[in-house]
Amino acid sequence: MMFRYLNQKTVAVLVAVSLVSLFGCSQQQPSAKVEPTAESPKPVVSDPKAETLKNLQAAYNGESNAHVMYLEFANKADEEGYGEVGRLFRAAARAEEIHRDNHAKVIESMGATPENDIATPQVSSTAENLEKAIKGESYERDTMYPKFISQAKTAGNEAAVQSFTYATEAEAQHAELYTQAMNNLENWKEATQPIYVCEASGHTTINVDETATCPPSNSSQQYEEIL
Ligand SMILES: [Fe+2]
Ligand SMILES: [Fe+2]
Repeated sequence: MMFRYLNQKTVAVLVAVSLVSLFGCSQQQPSAKVEPTAESPKPVVSDPKAETLKNLQAAYNGESNAHVMYLEFANKADEEGYGEVGRLFRAAARAEEIHRDNHAKVIESMGATPENDIATPQVSSTAENLEKAIKGESYERDTMYPKFISQAKTAGNEAAVQSFTYATEAEAQHAELYTQAMNNLENWKEATQPIYVCEASGHTTINVDETATCPPSNSSQQYEEIL
């Protein structure tokens, strides 16, 4: 009796397994149909060295133009009686000149020739010139140079990384000093204090204690006093 019962149970299990096999596991899942698509976009192949050279040329052009523009802004500030602002624009112009020359050296070390296209600066009132300068410096500090630094690192171009880093640090100082002037313009009339510009990096400060942070250069005088 027990043997017969077990047989029946075994048969039931075998039938159940067969049914599952037939209607479950054995069912073929429809395979995903791959429709032909329009031509896939080709991956962009970038050459990090060429990209860094292009960035250096863009930065060289930007610094060349900023140098010329700030000298014009300095003259305008002097004309309007904002002597301290004029001094600040002259200091920034000197810093941009240093950045320009630093970038040029890296471009030349890569076997290329620095190229720029100097536009005639649009000169407005000193308040408007400060506003324009703050926008330009902020863009370079927050967007342009960080991108260039990242790409130069990818290219393994340490000289470009250093030149871009010096520039972005100085642009941050320029944006800060321009903002101080714009927020307190009436107190920036009389030129009472020198502004210091580091010859190696273009770092710009009104605080003489900060001049100790000027990176070494070939010159005996590391910081220039802009009067
Ligand atoms: Fe600069
Ligand atoms: Fe700047």
